Amino acid sequence: MLKILILQGPNLNRLGKREPGHYGTKTLSEIHEEIEALGKKENFLPVFFQSNHEGAIVDRIHAAGEDGTQGAVANLGAYTHTSIAIRDAFLSVELPVVEVHLSNVYRRESFRAKSLLSDIAAGTIGGLGPVVYQLGILGLLDLLRRRDSGTPRT
Ligand code: DQA
Repeated sequence: MLKILILQGPNLNRLGKREPGHYGTKTLSEIHEEIEALGKKENFLPVFFQSNHEGAIVDRIHAAGEDGTQGAVANLGAYTHTSIAIRDAFLSVELPVVEVHLSNVYRRESFRAKSLLSDIAAGTIGGLGPVVYQLGILGLLDLLRRRDSGTPRT
């Protein structure tokens, strides 16, 4: 069964209470429950990790590179826009990653339009609320299954 890391960065543990105009009212646990349900339907194992600490996220990515994880869906929160260390961690493990954002970062402050992850990500999905996780996971599964069966992506 494919093992997928669902990685969440700083302040995403505050979902439900945090700026609902941007992020909606679903909590992180509710989003995780939806992902668990998708896992049963689509036959993958989601492994969840949320941290407010850059180094902890770097360590978790390194661990994923060694523990049989096949890919990651990541919402790095504000670290998306600042963290060379997290970008380098993904490059160090060659784990395909899909970048997701709940809000449409291009409709917000200009500093959010810059992502240090996008150009090394397999894909990026944003602006649609919690469904971005489902869409990101389905895209990643498609990529992994095509890769395993030797079918080209396009
Ligand atoms: C976010 C967008 C980021 O700019 C912000 O710092 C977040 C959440 C999103 O999901 O829309 O924490 O990644």
